[in-house]
Amino acid sequence: MEQRVLDTPAIRTAPPFPLPELYSRVERHVPRFEWPIMADDIAAILKLKRERNAVILAHNYQTPDIFHTVGDIVGDSLALAREAARTDADVIVLAGVHFMAETAKLLNPGKTVLIPDLEAGCSLAASITAADIRLMRARHPGVPIVTYVNTSAAVKAESDICCTSGNAKKIIEGLGVPKVIMLPDEYLARNIAAQTKVEIIAWTGHCEVHERFTPEDIRTLRETHPGITILAHPECPPEVVAECDFAGSTAAMADYVGQKRPARVVLLTECSMSDNVALQYPDLDFIRPCNLCPHMKRITLKNIRHALETMTHEVTIAPEIADRARQAVERMLAIG
Ligand code: 13P
Ligand code: SF4
Repeated sequence: MEQRVLDTPAIRTAPPFPLPELYSRVERHVPRFEWPIMADDIAAILKLKRERNAVILAHNYQTPDIFHTVGDIVGDSLALAREAARTDADVIVLAGVHFMAETAKLLNPGKTVLIPDLEAGCSLAASITAADIRLMRARHPGVPIVTYVNTSAAVKAESDICCTSGNAKKIIEGLGVPKVIMLPDEYLARNIAAQTKVEIIAWTGHCEVHERFTPEDIRTLRETHPGITILAHPECPPEVVAECDFAGSTAAMADYVGQKRPARVVLLTECSMSDNVALQYPDLDFIRPCNLCPHMKRITLKNIRHALETMTHEVTIAPEIADRARQAVERMLAIG
């Protein structure tokens, strides 16, 4: 299994384009009869974005109607954090989940950050509290705490540094210590531990989407689709990662497909990601088992439009948490 850390910049899609051009991007996914309803929301969103000087950051797991039409910047959670730190827009709409919106707010305390649905959470973020982190620190005095960005701002505030799936190894090795605590994703921690000499103390959080993939899935895919290339997100169990051909962040998987052009490929991750990448590479054969992230799917064109119309839901973070959480995110961005 190959595993690389790729420095994958966010993709700037830079709308607005004329609606027919936007349709041409998604026509293999969106039936023509559904387009007029979507086009109405898309046109309203593009107009509101200009009026509000807003930017839409869209994660790779957003559905193609969002990802390929209204997202100004699309990418993995590392790229979205980096771009949030750079934007000169007044308003950021996060088409993703709540921890991503909080990260954008941490990096832009003076800007308005909106999330179209406040219930767009994450099973990893829900698996750990600030009190848990304090307990881990007391149990392992002097051991640095590396926190996955898929956590609340309150948890980040108790941490020394953040990481994403795209830079976890670099961050852990960059600390120059023999042992770290890495929270809360047990599988990401074990997958990174397999690649480094640094000892990693893990937590027991799991992603409800990626924990469902099994080594049997991989064997079945190889039997039924000879020659298939299997990519997996490192939130998958280590036994799955061990049998795949490449593991990396959502952006690293998309880059792999773009660079290697495997004739037949499967991405063991959230299924809208395959839809988005498949639209970009119509000549490749994507096998698409579908595990949906119910949190990511709470974001729709309709509620993005509503967010910009009503300027809700605004993400706020208490200052005593924000200052410490920001440091953990900024330390990560300084290393990589
Ligand atoms: P990435 O940082 O790879 O985009 O992953 C975010 C995520 O939530 C994966 O489930
Ligand atoms: Fe969280 Fe998993 Fe959904 Fe990613 S896919 S946002 S880790 S629940």
